[in-house]
Amino acid sequence: MSIQTTQNNNIEFIDFCAGIGGGRIGLENLGMRCVGFSEIAPSYIRTYREFFGDDETNYGNLMKIDSKDLPDFDLMIAGFPCQTFSVIGQRTGMKDYRGQIIFGLIDIMKAKNLKYFILENVKGLLNHGSGESMKIILDALDQARYKVFWKLVSSLHYGVPQMRERIYFVGVRKDLVKDGIPFEFPQPVKKPELKDYLIDAAELEFDEKKRAYETFLKYLENKYNKGKFSVEQLLKEDYLVIDTRQSDLRLYRGMVPTLRTGRHGILYVRDGKFRRLSGYESLLLQGFPKELAQKIKGKIEEVSLLSQAGNAMTVNVVEVFGKKLVDFINKI
Ligand SMILES: C[S@@+](CC[C@H](N)C(=O)[O-])C[C@H]1O[C@@H](n2cnc3c(N)ncnc32)[C@H](O)[C@@H]1O
Repeated sequence: MSIQTTQNNNIEFIDFCAGIGGGRIGLENLGMRCVGFSEIAPSYIRTYREFFGDDETNYGNLMKIDSKDLPDFDLMIAGFPCQTFSVIGQRTGMKDYRGQIIFGLIDIMKAKNLKYFILENVKGLLNHGSGESMKIILDALDQARYKVFWKLVSSLHYGVPQMRERIYFVGVRKDLVKDGIPFEFPQPVKKPELKDYLIDAAELEFDEKKRAYETFLKYLENKYNKGKFSVEQLLKEDYLVIDTRQSDLRLYRGMVPTLRTGRHGILYVRDGKFRRLSGYESLLLQGFPKELAQKIKGKIEEVSLLSQAGNAMTVNVVEVFGKKLVDFINKI
């Protein structure tokens, strides 16, 4: 999906906590230009370079960046690390170093007198510390002189068949905002067909020949699943999605559950056979274009690709929020 902006924009951005650049693609689809990125994990940097080439500088650890070394830019995009806020994380939150990255980002905003930002984080931030962490972040952004509009949304409603609840923050420097002009949040769109995403041609069947299949059969017999599912029944339904969670098995139709960074294990049925959800398919389910997903296929280990896709921002969601920011800028 690529939305055409009604007016051209000359917005230049830096991609912080870049991961594999889901945010970057969303903004580039709107005609914005990336002038650098910041990422520390070597495997992510490798994929990022495969996708986008070597032209832009990686400014590395954002907590160590001297803002004077950054070029001028208008917008910051950052899906800041979520481990400490995530409902599956340790819930150590703001006390943990990784919880502090938001303050590193705010320091850069202030030093560069930045105009706009789009930030993303997990749903768990909302009730972390009984809402205190969210309040601290919103207060810090307010003190830094930003008007912030935020919303919890699911990728499922913005163009991919993946349940993925994330908070998106859109910020505009207060002196640029005219009072009374509302920010409009993006409207949900129709969910696309799941089968158009589960298209990997690679031989990833999951059957009796594979050792993991034995483990799966045992898993069906564990205390949570025993008596609830049979292989024959599951295999009857093409595109049935099977999430082999730590405890009980969950089934999904027409969509996949949130792709994760750690512990993978999403299976689905195609042509009467079980298949593993592949890294290629995971990238498509995060809105990455087929050309890029194809480009990286086989170049990095499948487990890494699954993790990297699970860590990314959904391209489509960044794009619709970016579009609403451009509309807002054009009104103020
Ligand atoms: C939730 S992910 C964001 C993914 C990314 N926005 C995408 O679409 O692929 C957070 C990323 O921040 C990176 N990161 C963590 N600490 C960092 C730091 N101090 N400086 C730069 N990047 C950092 C992690 O390696 C991880 O890739």
